[in-house]
This record gives sequence, C-alpha cells and structure tokens, in this order.
Amino acid sequence: MVKALAKLFQAPEKNIMAEIGKTAALMTDVIDLSIGDPDLATPAPIVNAAATAMLAGKTHYTASAGDPEYLQAILDFHHQNFGSHYQMENVQATVGASHATDLAFGALLDPDDEVIIFEPYFSPYKVQVEQYHAKPVFVTCQAADNFQPQKAAIAAAITAKTKAILVNSPNNPTGAVYDQETLQAIADLAKQHDLYLIADEVYWPYVYNDHEFVPLENLAPERTLVTGSLSKVFAMTGFRIGYLLGPKEVVSAAGLLNEGVTYTAPSMAQSAGGFGLQNVTELVEPLKNEFSQRLAYLGEELNQLSWAKTIPVAGSLYLFLDISGSGMDDVEFSDYLLEQAGILVIPGQAFGTSGKGFVRIAATQEMAVLKQAVAGFKSLSFASQKITE
Ligand SMILES: Cc1ncc(COP(=O)(O)O)c(C=O)c1O
Repeated sequence: MVKALAKLFQAPEKNIMAEIGKTAALMTDVIDLSIGDPDLATPAPIVNAAATAMLAGKTHYTASAGDPEYLQAILDFHHQNFGSHYQMENVQATVGASHATDLAFGALLDPDDEVIIFEPYFSPYKVQVEQYHAKPVFVTCQAADNFQPQKAAIAAAITAKTKAILVNSPNNPTGAVYDQETLQAIADLAKQHDLYLIADEVYWPYVYNDHEFVPLENLAPERTLVTGSLSKVFAMTGFRIGYLLGPKEVVSAAGLLNEGVTYTAPSMAQSAGGFGLQNVTELVEPLKNEFSQRLAYLGEELNQLSWAKTIPVAGSLYLFLDISGSGMDDVEFSDYLLEQAGILVIPGQAFGTSGKGFVRIAATQEMAVLKQAVAGFKSLSFASQKITE
C-alpha cells in the first residue's frame, strides 16, 4: 500500500462531461457543439512566424519571464488598444491563461483565503483555488440580469478572508459581456475592501452588436491581474501561449513560483504570439466576424423554440440556452439531445449548480453544421413541455 492522494483528489466530483463524452464516442456523425476551441485554422502568418522562429534557432528556453520581444509586444498591445502603461516588470509569459490564473492564485493565496467567483463559471477555477487550500465563494449571476454580476450580491459575499474577485468577461459559459457599470461596481468594491481583481479576458475580441469590451486594468490597475491568452484571440489553442500582467510585486512572486513550474513558455509560441499581437487588427477581424454571424444565427433560431430561450447574444463563442421549458433537467436534456439528434452540448451544471436548466452551445462548427444542429433542435419534442413567454 502506498499513502493516499492529496485530500482534494480522494473523492473526485462526478465528471458530467466525461460521462456524456463516453456515449458520444460510441456514436458516429455526432455534431459536437461542446468544444471551446475555435475550429478555424490558426492564421497562416502566425504559423509562419513560429516556423521562422524555429528555423532561426528559437527552440531553447527563453528568459524565465519570457522572450523580451514577446513581452514588448504584449506591453505595446495593451498600450495601443487599452491605453495602459505597463513596463517589463509587470509581465510574465505563461503557458496559456490557465497557467497565468494558476500563478496568480499561487502568488496571492494563503490557506483559507477566499476568492469570489461568479457562477456559472469556467469550471477549472474551482480546483485552481482549492489546490492552494483556499476557498472559492460563488456568487450566482441570473439570466434575468443578462448574467451581469450584481453589486449587492458581491458585497454580501465579501468577508475578512476575501483576497480576490475573479472576473471573466466576455464570459464562458454565459456569453455575457460585463458592462462599464458592472465592472465599475466590482472595481469600487475591490478598492473599498482592498481586494485583488483577476481579469480573465481570454475572449476580449469576441464582443458583438452594441457591446463593448471594457478592460478591467483601466478601472483598477493597482490591483488587477490580467490573465491573457492568445488561444482564442488567434485560434491558436495548441500553441499554449498567454501571459500574466499586473502589479510588479505579484508578477515577481508569480515569476518565482513559475521557475519551478514551467520555467518559461515555449519559445516558438512566444514568437508566434508576439507576431499576432503586432498584427492584431487584421488577424482578429475575420475570426470575430465569423463567430458573430454564427452566434447571431444560433440565437435567432433557438430563441424561436417554444421550450427554450437565451439572453441576447453579447460575446464569447458560446450560447447559454435555458432549456427548462423542455421539462427535463440539463443532464437529461443533453443525453436526450445526443440520442435523438446526435448533438453534443455541455449541461449547464458542469459550470456550477446555478447552471442547472441550461446547456452551453459552442459555435465552434461551421455554419453548414450549425444549420444541421438547428434542425436537430427543432426536431425534438417533449412529454411535459412548458411554453416560454
Ligand atoms: C474563460 C476561460 N479562461 C481560460 C481559458 C484557458 O485558456 P488558455 O488556452 O489560454 O489556457 C479558457 C479556455 O476555454 C476559458 O474559457
């Protein structure tokens, strides 16, 4: 016998997605709308930038904080697009935003500290907080508020142990884009209670209609840690490249922690990412337009279903569909959708208990496939269907 695993992993929670995934794997012709990875090819100039870098010998470690060219591209990008004034001491290259979030928590959290997370939430945050023996405190956002966090609910969740508030806008899974008023309220609370803000802005270009991306770093730069990612911005998830940007003390601690984690981010991915950031406008537009059209289509079509409804499309790559009118819960519904129509989605409760009654639909398939999916949704019928208003 060897000793037990860490307590955190001794009784793992049920993995809803893994179970549905097993069923999907046994089926042919599944329309997979569960994937949070843009299906579009990484723009060729970015791939070329990586290849050129490798041929030029960038196949080794870079400085632990990152390749200075990549770091400069991040600083220039934030300055030109968001007007911020960060220096080299404020930035650390990371292996995607997941790694940046992890380093931020590692730099900030002591055991029993609390982190406020808005629910429904990107599911990895929970364990990222718990692994430091800290506590995620969930504040539910309601569809009736277009999933904007409410100031009173956030204020009620703040205790003497609260260390940080995690803010993910544009949001996965709800598609909400937090407006200026919401973000200002969060920044004001953070100032009043002396909290850090962790700004997961990995979907920043994906804002549609009259919605605008508001960078949190502009509202409270002294306490905001941006967990940046190029994964979704340039459809380059497999490059695993991102960054952490924020107050120098925190970034410096994150850098120390990272020396024993990944040491640095992949050198060729830094070159590719830096190239992307230097050419952001022309590279991002086609991706944004494509997802805008897809989500507009899905929103319009699925809102016509008598048993389903969704908030007006605002941002990200996802639609969060209220399917409670079907009379089924979200896990039952997802199973039924898979069996009847061959469509795979994620049950909302995978994003926290308040996601019950919803499913997340990723627009990460081309329009022709989405049209088939819409036909599949329309073909469903339910025994105890409620009509939505
Ligand atoms: C909200 C959110 N944050 C972070 C990530 C992870 O990004 P990265 O690929 O940069 O680690 C994702 C990926 O789906 C996400 O949806």
